[in-house]
Amino acid sequence: MKLLRACLLLILFYFICITDCATFRFASYYASHMVLQQKPSQAVIWGYGEVGASVTVSLYKGPETILKKSVAINDDAGVWKVLLDPVDHGGPYWLLAQQHYQKDITDLALHDILFGDVWLCGGQSNMEMTVSQVFNASKELAKAADYPNIRLFTAALEVSLMELDDLAKVDLQWSVPTSENLGNGEFTYFSAVCWLFGRHLSHQLKYPIGLVESVWGGTPVEAWSSKRALQKCGLSHHEECASERSMYTGEMAGPCNYTVLWNAMIHPLLNMTIKGAIWYQGEQNTGTNTDLYNCTFPALIEDWRLSFYEGTNGQTDRHFPFGFVQLSTYQKKQQNDDYPVIRWHQTADYGYAPNPKMNNTFMAVAMDLGDESSPYGSVHPRDKQTVAYRLYLGARAIAYGEKDLPFQGPFPIKFEVFYKESYINITYDQQLLITSLSDSIFEVLCDSMDETVDSWSPVAVTSACSRVVTVCFKGCSQISGIRYAWQDWPCEYKKCPIYSIQRKLPAPLFVKYFKK
Ligand SMILES: *[C@@H]1O[C@H](CO)[C@@H](O)[C@H](O)[C@H]1NC(C)=O
Ligand SMILES: *[C@@H]1O[C@H](CO)[C@@H](O)[C@H](O)[C@H]1NC(C)=O
Ligand SMILES: *[C@@H]1O[C@H](CO)[C@@H](O)[C@H](O)[C@H]1NC(C)=O
Ligand SMILES: *[C@@H]1O[C@H](CO)[C@@H](O)[C@H](O)[C@H]1NC(C)=O
Ligand SMILES: *[C@@H]1O[C@H](CO)[C@@H](O)[C@H](O)[C@H]1NC(C)=O
Ligand SMILES: *[C@@H]1O[C@H](CO)[C@@H](O)[C@H](O)[C@H]1NC(C)=O
Repeated sequence: MKLLRACLLLILFYFICITDCATFRFASYYASHMVLQQKPSQAVIWGYGEVGASVTVSLYKGPETILKKSVAINDDAGVWKVLLDPVDHGGPYWLLAQQHYQKDITDLALHDILFGDVWLCGGQSNMEMTVSQVFNASKELAKAADYPNIRLFTAALEVSLMELDDLAKVDLQWSVPTSENLGNGEFTYFSAVCWLFGRHLSHQLKYPIGLVESVWGGTPVEAWSSKRALQKCGLSHHEECASERSMYTGEMAGPCNYTVLWNAMIHPLLNMTIKGAIWYQGEQNTGTNTDLYNCTFPALIEDWRLSFYEGTNGQTDRHFPFGFVQLSTYQKKQQNDDYPVIRWHQTADYGYAPNPKMNNTFMAVAMDLGDESSPYGSVHPRDKQTVAYRLYLGARAIAYGEKDLPFQGPFPIKFEVFYKESYINITYDQQLLITSLSDSIFEVLCDSMDETVDSWSPVAVTSACSRVVTVCFKGCSQISGIRYAWQDWPCEYKKCPIYSIQRKLPAPLFVKYFKK
């Protein structure tokens, strides 16, 4: 009897160990070929194991032990988490996680680990477009093999009503770039903007770059926002929506319930130490809470920053650099204010980035990159090279401290209205490159005589030189505002009227109201 009981216990113990010891694992996004954030930050390694066990994580370069960290698992969910000491960029390293539980030792090993900068790429379909969908796709795909130091990861499309700790699924596990994984069909992986941005960084920095794609086409900013971020803008997190073909962009709409993508595709990543993020989204908000975007977008940025900072025990910069693409174009012939309004709101109504409400951000203007004959619909322009290059300039200036690098198009700093002579002198912050000045690109808000609605009317540019543009508003006795490029499709491809002399960066749209 005693023997039988002992035997049963032994079998039971063995069974428990088999099932439970098998739960020792890394979180879903730790894999061979990954890039971990370099010094001065500390990379976070975490996973699941046996409650009561101890876990030792060791980093090796060849046979040499670089560091060793141990932790006891005392969390009910079996979560373990270690912070590696800061590691300089380079590699390859290999990493061993070892669980000691009672008499059992379980090993997990990852190889070809690099240290460098990890960038998160988020947004909707324009970030989701793959390298095979852009201009010169075959040429770009053929270059994949030249960048073995860039590594790619893509989270799967998932929704959740609750915040998930780990990703439910991974679409592309950490990989060395190949023409196959850069051009896996359409709107899958890998993101062209993310890749081309990473490629520029890799050229410039000459060390490993990790790119983490977590995007879903046709999704509004509210889906990517936490409860906390939505509450800042007076939105309840319970909001639901009808997710059908989007009437605003023509593309298939993705999930739009508030927080569902934050829950499933961002929250699980919060324990990863990152360098920064880039974002291309807003088309879906041309029909949803458009007027709130000047709150919801800055709130998302601040909330992601705080969340990554907390999730990595302070190892991700509390103010990490956040780059974004200002919306490109959608419809050439229809006058639709929603596109300029979102572009303006993307800057928290300042017109440029960074700005007082959006610290440490950078913006790539894209309204001059329209592509009416794009086979993916005009909302999906194929020139992602220029978008990525403009983002990259912003990253160098903002994220990598090149203070004197020009990365912004011209922006007005002074308006002088001469009512008697009916003209306005607009002084920009830098020398202008004027390509062509179409008649309707500047408009003034003409005050009506009879107290009916004020209206915007196009005005002629009478001269433009160096940093000053002069517009004439004959026919209006009083004006109360002026705006530039306030159109869905303001100009032909790379032919907006005003660029910077240095690097030919387009002047972003603006609207300026004068006090009556
Ligand atoms: C949105 O919420 C509603 C109600 O909870 C649910 O029926 C629907 O499946 C949700 N859609 C998505 C994509 O989460
Ligand atoms: C956002 O823009 C709307 C108009 O679209 C305006 O009424 C509101 O005051 C702005 N909010 C902020 C926070 O700037
Ligand atoms: C990851 O970060 C989130 C958010 O700060 C936190 O709630 C969670 O406990 C962290 N997970 C681990 C494994 O530390
Ligand atoms: C803005 O970001 C910089 C760079 O990280 C940081 O040093 C500074 O404290 C931030 N300022 C505010 C007001 O958040
Ligand atoms: C495509 O390649 C041609 C020829 O090299 C080049 O002139 C053009 O600028 C490229 N287009 C883009 C968007 O990079
Ligand atoms: C306005 O700008 C023009 C150049 O575009 C210049 O010739 C003119 O003197 C300016 N007017 C004033 C009052 O400064």
